[in-house]
Amino acid sequence: MMGTVVLRILTVCGSLQRLSANRAAIDVASGFWGTDVAVEEFADLVRIPPFDPDAVADTEVDEWRARLAAADAVLFASPEYAGAIAGTLKNALDWIVGSGELYAKPVGVISAGTSGGVHARRMTIQTLTWQGAHVVAELGITMPRSKTDDDGAFVDGPTIAAINSLAATLVAASTMASQQRLALVHDVVRAAGVDEAHIAPLTDD
Ligand SMILES: Cc1cc2nc3c(=O)[nH]c(=O)nc-3n(C[C@H](O)[C@H](O)[C@H](O)COP(=O)(O)O)c2cc1C
Repeated sequence: MMGTVVLRILTVCGSLQRLSANRAAIDVASGFWGTDVAVEEFADLVRIPPFDPDAVADTEVDEWRARLAAADAVLFASPEYAGAIAGTLKNALDWIVGSGELYAKPVGVISAGTSGGVHARRMTIQTLTWQGAHVVAELGITMPRSKTDDDGAFVDGPTIAAINSLAATLVAASTMASQQRLALVHDVVRAAGVDEAHIAPLTDD
């Protein structure tokens, strides 16, 4: 019997290269989710123009905002470049400061890269939290090339299990009781070393 879609999850990969470990991580999560989740990928980060506060309208930015707004939860997976968040993703996130599409929305953060993207994850969690998103799970994947096959797909059991666990948490957080979710967000944000004072309160409280 066909399941009923109850949750819409948008995936966003901050890497633009073809053989991307971060996209491979998203593929694992997408494979984990069942028929009660509708997974969509936002694959147009490359088309989003440099952030300009003076800009009044842009089709690609409108589409980015609309896709985020339509999602119940979002999974970000992005590399760390030179000890920081990938510029493509930061640029896209700058466009939604003030428009609020991620406000109180559950999000997951993955960074696959040489050292596990600890700085990229902290910065991504910080900027998402500043924008009101509820970061409910995060995961660093070190040395991804040693955990993937020739086609770039993850084959390492513990890595796949960790991604599946994050994917399960993102789904669970989307439906859990308000205070339980908020406690989870505080745990993740605190562990990342990000100021908890910026965590958005739940809107239905
Ligand atoms: C310009 C550049 C800078 C990088 N800087 C870092 C870094 O600071 N920390 C890190 O862990 N990995 C760094 N890496 C390695 C990437 O994280 C790694 O190549 C990762 O697999 C890229 O993600 P992708 O496979 O999804 O494209 C860097 C790679 C490039 C090309």
